Amino acid sequence: MNIAIITGASSGMGREFAAQIDTQLCRTDEIWLLARRREPMEELAGAMRTKTRVIPIDLADERELKRFREVLSIAAPKITMLVCCAGVGRHGLFAGQEEEELSAMLRLNVTAQTMLAGMCLPYMRRGSKIILFASGAAFVPQPGFAVYAATKAYAYSFGRALRRELKGRGICVTTICPGPVDTPFLEQAYGDRGDMSGLKRLTTQRAPRVVAKAIDDCKRGRAVSVCGLPMQALYLATQTAQNIAQLFLACAEALSGERKETGK
Ligand SMILES: NC(=O)c1ccc[n+]([C@@H]2O[C@H](COP(=O)([O-])OP(=O)(O)OC[C@H]3O[C@@H](n4cnc5c(N)ncnc54)[C@H](OP(=O)(O)O)[C@@H]3O)[C@@H](O)[C@H]2O)c1
Repeated sequence: MNIAIITGASSGMGREFAAQIDTQLCRTDEIWLLARRREPMEELAGAMRTKTRVIPIDLADERELKRFREVLSIAAPKITMLVCCAGVGRHGLFAGQEEEELSAMLRLNVTAQTMLAGMCLPYMRRGSKIILFASGAAFVPQPGFAVYAATKAYAYSFGRALRRELKGRGICVTTICPGPVDTPFLEQAYGDRGDMSGLKRLTTQRAPRVVAKAIDDCKRGRAVSVCGLPMQALYLATQTAQNIAQLFLACAEALSGERKETGK
């Protein structure tokens, strides 16, 4: 049985992924939808063509993650696609944030995404795809969004490294880095969007476009999916800066090696 697993499927981009995968991936026998809220997932499942399984789960809860591992071992599916969309963010100064809220964000954005990828891997074969969710916030540290941006920098780094590790097995990892997208995330992260900067409002994109680009980039085997000119410009700028820094480091290492050899 070929299955696609989508987390965060009760809302926003996860929901959109489910809808688009439903019409595009003909080799998928079943789509599994994961999130905490059962109702919106059941409503979505009712409108899908592909057989759909709704799995209500709190991914920030370690025990529930363990239970999902058992679900996988009983079903023993072939996972053709894993989309790790579930994620939360909270704008605001680090010093003012609730400890439990921060901890739940880390458990979901970092631990759950990592553990899920690990537990799905044994069920993947050559040609399987993994889509991990970072953000444009991964490219530069963001005061006022410090912990969220750091969790996304983790996802970005993890996704790119995992891609290299899995290349030989023919499993492709694509890391998605959206800028602001018009989903309930923005209300939740920015207190009804009141804290959103003018630039973020101006560059906010629609979920169907971001997801269509992500699926296309994944099909083309791209490492990173960045949608829209402003985000692509930021991505290019940070990549260029990183490449220059790496060049400097390589030169410094080569020079220090030369000094050691000549004894100077
Ligand atoms: N929207 C943006 O501006 C933006 C920009 C860059 C990156 N992103 C990233 O994109 C991803 C999708 O976000 P979105 O914009 O689609 O937001 P969204 O509409 O708020 O969706 C978030 C999803 O995560 C699920 N979720 C939250 N906590 C969970 C938990 N503990 N266990 C299981 N599922 C949980 C939610 O479902 P339940 O509440 O039913 O559990 C929901 O389905 C996130 O990783 C986010 O960080 C968003």
